Formats: sequence, C-alpha cells, structure tokens
Amino acid sequence: MSGATVAVVIATVPSAVELRAMLDAERRTGRTVGFVPTMGALHAGHASLVRAASAADVVVVSVFVNPLQFAPSEDLAAYPRSLDADVAVAAESGASIVFAPDEQEMYPGGRDSVLTTVAVPALAATMEGASRPTHFAGVCTVVAKLLNVVGPCTAYFGEKDFQQLAVIRRMVADLSFPVEVIGCPTLREPDGLALSSRNVYLSAEERAVAPVLQRALRAGAEAVAGGQRGADEVRSLMASIIEAAPLGALDYVEVADPTSLEALSVLTGPCRLFGAVRFGRTRLIDNVAAVPGGVR
Ligand code: PAJ
Repeated sequence: MSGATVAVVIATVPSAVELRAMLDAERRTGRTVGFVPTMGALHAGHASLVRAASAADVVVVSVFVNPLQFAPSEDLAAYPRSLDADVAVAAESGASIVFAPDEQEMYPGGRDSVLTTVAVPALAATMEGASRPTHFAGVCTVVAKLLNVVGPCTAYFGEKDFQQLAVIRRMVADLSFPVEVIGCPTLREPDGLALSSRNVYLSAEERAVAPVLQRALRAGAEAVAGGQRGADEVRSLMASIIEAAPLGALDYVEVADPTSLEALSVLTGPCRLFGAVRFGRTRLIDNVAAVPGGVR
C-alpha cells in the first residue's frame, strides 16, 4: 500500500428496519455478518472484538446504552457517551456499519412498556446477578432484540464479562438464535487492569490501586496451578489480597465452573476465578482461567 490516506466508508444507521434490510441484502449475495454489541465509549478492548469480527464480510457494531440493564441506583445518566469517537474507533477497527438506535427506536413505548423479558436465572443469580438482580434480564432482553434485528450472524463478546458471555451463550442455544457466539480474551493495561469504560471514573489514587483485583485473581490461579484443590482456600487467598489493599471494598470473589458458573468446592478440572471490587462509586469486575496443576 502507498502512504495515501484511505477513506473508510462507514454507515451510521439509527433505524432497525433499515439495518435489517441492509443486512438481508448482504446475506442474499452470500456475504457473512459479524456483530459486536456495545454500549459505546469504545476502547481498545471493544476494538479487539471488532477486529475479530472482521473475519466476516460485513461488520456491524451496535452502540446503545441500554437502560433496562441499569438499576435505578446505577450510573445510567452518567454513563459515558461519545458516538462520534465511537464511530471512528469502529471504522478504524474494521466495522462497516454502526447501528446507533435511540431509546425510542429500541423501546418505542418507552423502557417501562416492555412486557416481555428474556432471562437465564440459573446462570444469572450469582456474582454480578447477586449484586445487580435485574441486570442480566436487561442484558438478555436487549441482546435478544439486537440479534433479532441483525439476523443470522457471528456475534462477539468479551471474556471480560465472563458471566454475561455464559448467559448469552445459553440464551442463544436455548432459544435457537441463528447466531454463533464467539468469546474474546480480555484486553488489559500494562499493569494488568482490565480495560473498561468505567475506568475513567477512578481517581488517580484509586487507579493506582485498581490492579490489585487482577493480582488477586492471578494469585488464585497460581495457587490452583500449584496444587491447591480447596476452592475456599483460593477464595480466602484472593479476598485477603484485595482486603490488604487501601481504597477498594471487596464485593465478591468466586471460584466457579466455567460453563454452569456453579460455585465449586473441590477443584478437579478447569475453573474460572471471578472478583468484583468497589472503588468509591466505581465497581470493577474481572476474571481469569485456572487449571489445577500438580500437588505442591
Ligand atoms: P459494553 O460494556 O460496552 O461491552 C461490549 C463488549 O465489549 C462486551 O462483550 C464486553 O465483554 C467487551 N469488553 C469490554 N471490555 C473489554 C476488554 N477489556 N477486553 C475485551 N473485551 C471487552 O457488555 C455490554 O456493553 C452490554 O452489556 C451489551 C452486551 C452491549 C448489552 O447492552
């Protein structure tokens, strides 16, 4: 390639009917659709999903801050919104269409008029669901709507929100959506903090301490790899590391089966370690894989 600037053609589509018509036309010519649902405030973690989705011929990124998944006490009004910057990130990462509906488009009678909800209670009651009881029904309902608008596609979700990924995989399988779900690894800052749209809320002091969450999870994974078979011991180890750090308030740590998300007691196979910590009003979550190794 020469050094000439290549203009990236990207369509910002606010209408569900229009988007569906565009994608149906693409599929009729044999082209495949990759889909990355987001709430905007796109960062390098989102961009990595868009790049992965570029395995498809047409890549759609949705940007919609979904009110249904926020509890009244949460940060819906304050959630960062930056559509122009998001369109630029999406385009640079390989998207050809940004679906950016307003609330009226997604919930024509208003968010309180939605009488149908989609939920996967068996996977959504613990961890994030225990802390945020209405959250996953809000996520499933909007993702079900988005998948119905986008139609047959490969959809990309981050392992950063591992419980969300498990819940959506299950919803897609149980309800026979014509969708393949792909999970993508978590992108991190050099000090280990998982990239998140909420990191901007951290004060400088909180930001400096925040990597403790990832450090605690990694220590848990190392203990498992080193032969620790007791999940309670791993939970205690992770909790003690978080509690020893200033500013952060431990919400939960968990050691669970990676598919059923059931809390484990004895570790015999691959498992997932989860944690959530509050820094002031900012709640950070993270998770890592762990594989039992030899007895120490
Ligand atoms: P949002 O928080 O914007 O995240 C959109 C996607 O980006 C999710 O699949 C999330 O797991 C992924 N992601 C976030 N941070 C990441 C990181 N550091 N590395 C890799 N991937 C990362 O998750 C939602 O929006 C919403 O709940 C949504 C699914 C769009 C429904 O409203």
